[in-house]
Amino acid sequence: MARGRFITLEGGEGAGKSTQAKLLGTWLVAPERVAVLTREPGGSPGAEQIRALLVEGEPDRWDPIAEALLHYAARRDHLRRTIEPELALGRWVVCDRFIDSTMAYQGYGHGLDRDFIRGLERAVIGDLRPDLTLILDLPVELGLKRAAERRGTEARYEAMDRAFHERLRAGYRAIAAAEPDRCVLIDADAEPMVVQRRIRDTVRMRFSADFAA
Ligand code: TMP
Repeated sequence: MARGRFITLEGGEGAGKSTQAKLLGTWLVAPERVAVLTREPGGSPGAEQIRALLVEGEPDRWDPIAEALLHYAARRDHLRRTIEPELALGRWVVCDRFIDSTMAYQGYGHGLDRDFIRGLERAVIGDLRPDLTLILDLPVELGLKRAAERRGTEARYEAMDRAFHERLRAGYRAIAAAEPDRCVLIDADAEPMVVQRRIRDTVRMRFSADFAA
């Protein structure tokens, strides 16, 4: 059986990733294709428990190394229990955040040594990389405004200062520029269905063989 495709969505706060991931997951489903929607931190029972430690509480609750290790502990569990088995069954996996979030948030945002993060990446996920990473890009001000409108208990990262979010955006743009074969920057400063159309066009183009006929 052919291995499934692995698509990740990335972006700062309020970029609309979760909405876009859901819309993409629904659109991908076809008679010949099963699509599974998942998220990080989380996506498996153990990783969902770790998520609560990461997204709730005070902004300075963890130091950057502890935080990166928690994200990678959650990611390891998610990978072994959800992502790899689903891909092996030939399913398409749409994941709301993955490795680039750690590089962007802990690396560019918190200034954690990027080689340290690359080392974790190698040790924990090996050679596995998403087949496509969609990075939703929009001005920080707009993203924070959108995020504030839906703020719940999971606001720990939103509470970080404005400069942090600017570094985050610059980080994502640097990742996209460094890995153009894997990453596509999507302009997310538009209505949700307009952004979704951009995403679908990108997916259709990237996996043209899967969309023939
Ligand atoms: P979410 O709001 O997209 O569900 O993500 C939860 C928060 O976790 C979000 O503010 C970004 C943060 N995060 C990291 O800092 N590093 C990571 O590796 C991941 C996956 C998420």
